[in-house]
Amino acid sequence: SLVNGKSMLDAARAGNYAVGAFNTNNLEWTRGILAAAQEKGVPVLIQTSMGAAKYMGGYELCLHLVQDTVKSMGITVPVVMHLDHGNYEAAKECIEVGYNSVMFDGHDLPFAENLEKTKEIVALAHAKGISVEAEVGSIGGEEDGIVGAGELADVEEAKTLAATGIDYLACGIGNIHGQYPANWTGLNLDRLSELAAVIETPLVLHGGSGIPKDQIQKAVKMGISKVNVNTECQLVFAAATRKYIEEGKDQEGKGFDPRKLFAPGTKAITELVEDRIEWFGTEAAK
Ligand code: G3H
Ligand code: ZN
Repeated sequence: SLVNGKSMLDAARAGNYAVGAFNTNNLEWTRGILAAAQEKGVPVLIQTSMGAAKYMGGYELCLHLVQDTVKSMGITVPVVMHLDHGNYEAAKECIEVGYNSVMFDGHDLPFAENLEKTKEIVALAHAKGISVEAEVGSIGGEEDGIVGAGELADVEEAKTLAATGIDYLACGIGNIHGQYPANWTGLNLDRLSELAAVIETPLVLHGGSGIPKDQIQKAVKMGISKVNVNTECQLVFAAATRKYIEEGKDQEGKGFDPRKLFAPGTKAITELVEDRIEWFGTEAAK
């Protein structure tokens, strides 16, 4: 069933585990992610970036896709439909459409404006029982046009933003969207511990693709309650599809039928998501 994010992530913070938030792009992605969560018996967040929602045909369609897929697959674990890195307009639209959770990403605004707009979104969302994620500091790299310099979250700003009543907080701690460069120096766990010491709000780790398992697990123990993964699903889907085609399977029988052609990639997403559920310790939610 679809639920809001607050109680899911409060429980994760209290229980020292994290819930995975996986970006979807279409029916195959959605089914692949949901199958993994159901198999493991754990909660999950499915999120759409603004770009993915545009690609799919709008927020309403995305919400219906997830709702109807949950129903048709007989999914019984809690599922949150979340807007990833929304601007002000997108967050408002997803609140109107009825997403369960929205991220208002105001990291590129002057802090006072980020704070003001976050408060407005919180008021609109909470009036409808919808959860809110805000961002302070920035996630390095680029995702679907959202670019960040990778500045560390300022502890005072993070405290102020958390006090607006948001339900979870994305903080820059050296994490980067997309693939990590060879010279990446790792997560700044010292900054994470400073943030977690003064903020009870569940914290969100963006750029979850490519961070070594031990660093993710340390971050989760320290207060990260939601880990976002996008690029890795794209990489495993592409690799599995490429292998299928290179082996000539699209030429055999009816292997070119999209129902067959997309099956290996969908399975690869399920396997990756199951693996990350283990990394994040989400089974503690049971
Ligand atoms: O907002 C989505 C995530 O932060 C995804 O980052 O593509 O590096 O996994 P990633
Ligand atoms: Zn992100």
